[in-house]
Amino acid sequence: MSIAADSGRAGRLYKSIAKTLRHDIESGRFAESEVLPGERALCETYEVSRTTLRKAIVELIAEGVLFHRHGAGTFIHRSTPRVDQPSSRLTSFTEDMELRGFVATSRLLEKGVFLPTPEEAMMLGAGPNERVFRLRRLRLASGTPMAIENAVVPLRFLPDWDRFDGSLYDALSAKGHRPMRGLQRLRAILLNEADAATLGVEPRSPALYIQRIAYLPDGACVEFTRSWYRADTYDFVSELALSPAPRKTRR
Ligand code: GLP
Repeated sequence: MSIAADSGRAGRLYKSIAKTLRHDIESGRFAESEVLPGERALCETYEVSRTTLRKAIVELIAEGVLFHRHGAGTFIHRSTPRVDQPSSRLTSFTEDMELRGFVATSRLLEKGVFLPTPEEAMMLGAGPNERVFRLRRLRLASGTPMAIENAVVPLRFLPDWDRFDGSLYDALSAKGHRPMRGLQRLRAILLNEADAATLGVEPRSPALYIQRIAYLPDGACVEFTRSWYRADTYDFVSELALSPAPRKTRR
């Protein structure tokens, strides 16, 4: 191969590595840390030479995706998304993020079928022996951890739970069980150490704890979800209207 052709191929290669790396950052592959893994590990992962990797990194630094801190390494620039969420719409995390131009992804923390805890059985209106699908996920917006969500769904609504991947509401819709109505309760809390580490914030950082119970049109309860949203990424917005004054009752 001629020198010109060879250097053309190398040029395309580093561009394609930069593209793959950018995509991996956005989809949360390195979400646990702000620091990019070391050169050797990245060269092995992407099967490229150090020269190619360095050129790709320089390109991503120029784009503002990465930045270099002298003596400390290469960091991922996370401009924390801030989301205004109308509190009256029954939407999924995926829909909420896509609407705002972010790529919604999840990291699976736990998934399985269990008997419900007394609290889950009560919230879902399920019998103590009715099995439930439990799903614990870290939810990310374009690579930034936003929330931890523990969803519990009666197994009869998602019998092929082991094939589940992606959006819970999409999976339920595909089975004809899209939640139609919901009740949501919000409370301010401080994150414990483990949840704070998963979300990439300091222990005892403030968060919004949200409980959602969602129903099908026939009134059956399809979902009981507890979420811990980082307080620095989420604003819940409520629309308020003046309701007719309550009529005074005569004694
Ligand atoms: C929101 C709700 C959850 C719901 C989830 C479904 O985050 N708070 O109660 O389970 O959306 O999201 P997805 O369909 O993206 O999995």
